[in-house]
Amino acid sequence: MASPSGSTIMSKPTLVTVLLLLLVQINTISGCYTSIFQFGDSLADTGNLLAARNDEHSFMRNYPYGETFFKRPTGRCSDGRLIVDFIAEALGISLIPPYLRHSNQDFKQGVNFAVAGATALDIAVFEEKGVHAYTNYSLGVQLEWFKQLLPSLCALPSGCKDMLSTSLFLVGEIGGNDYNYPFLQGKSVQELRAIVPHVIDTISSTITELIDEGAVTLMVPGNLPIGCSPSYLTVLQSQNKDDYDTNGCLSWLNEFSQFHNQLLQNELNRLREVHPHATIIYADYYNVAIELYQFPNQLGFTGGALTTCCGGGGPYNYNVSAKCGYQGSTACVDPSLFVNWDGVHWTERAYNHIATGILSGPFTTPRIIIGCVSSKSHNDDHSSS
Ligand SMILES: *[C@@H]1O[C@H](CO)[C@@H](O)[C@H](O)[C@H]1NC(C)=O
Ligand SMILES: *[C@@H]1O[C@H](CO)[C@@H](O)[C@H](O)[C@H]1NC(C)=O
Repeated sequence: MASPSGSTIMSKPTLVTVLLLLLVQINTISGCYTSIFQFGDSLADTGNLLAARNDEHSFMRNYPYGETFFKRPTGRCSDGRLIVDFIAEALGISLIPPYLRHSNQDFKQGVNFAVAGATALDIAVFEEKGVHAYTNYSLGVQLEWFKQLLPSLCALPSGCKDMLSTSLFLVGEIGGNDYNYPFLQGKSVQELRAIVPHVIDTISSTITELIDEGAVTLMVPGNLPIGCSPSYLTVLQSQNKDDYDTNGCLSWLNEFSQFHNQLLQNELNRLREVHPHATIIYADYYNVAIELYQFPNQLGFTGGALTTCCGGGGPYNYNVSAKCGYQGSTACVDPSLFVNWDGVHWTERAYNHIATGILSGPFTTPRIIIGCVSSKSHNDDHSSS
């Protein structure tokens, strides 16, 4: 094909830039989201478990939980804000309230259904195997809450569709506890690999139901590198050096997380074909978090990547007899120097790193760009074509 005369005016680098911009536009989802619906576990719970069950087992009700940002325990399993809080801030909306603690008029900018300890699978599955689960508010329960609440969120007949189409649905991280409970109660990796497809099926059917209800944009995070978690490093400590990678993490557990993530991504690819009008984004928590273990000092986590800030002693400062929030544990002076908060959960600063990697880094597929400006020009492009 002959080049149009215009191409002689446009220098080669400019042409390359234009092509790159076009590519970026095609693979980028930008939006001016007005609300967030969050499903998940303690990585995202902003107060549900504490509202449901405020007893001596509710470690997150105790100081120093919340000490950095809220200056009091809020029910978040960290010293401060979680990934969902940083996403809300980036959207310019208020931090979304926990479902069990608020009434419907508070839910104008979304609802948080995540519950600490929640599993993707129904807890009967674990009870059958003799595995004790800490909470029974599984993904299926959270989905029911959403369905029951929905009619009251959009009183106008046309309201629901519009409201849901401008909402960001965060489906997870969920599934981590489906593995935490059995692994930490002595089940083998072979047994655990067998339940991964069931976990993925449950996440998948939840996504399908949400799309059927009107969800248009869904972000689905994968599992974190659990082999770097001080709780696992302590409980499943090994004498065999070959069990550890160069970051000091348990390789076989990280491989397990990646196995889950691979199956999840395969399933999301399938769902994208079945629901072409929906945008299903994979958030690669694993690879953004692994940076924290590879380059802790460069990223300012000089307290150590594998040692918890708040704990009761031991090689990773994680002690099952003196967990954070209980007698015998103490918190570090500056949590922002630590990746891990209490052995199981991350510090606010580590969550901030993950949120930044998701919102402005390369860790989402397709890329998500949050902000009204890009969304507006995106819409203008459509209206003028
Ligand atoms: C979860 O367990 C609590 C107490 O054991 C019970 O009151 C509650 O109804 C259960 N919730 C679900 C959704 O099963
Ligand atoms: C763990 O906590 C218990 C109870 O406070 C304490 O007796 C024990 O010494 C601690 N273990 C380590 C390794 O510090």
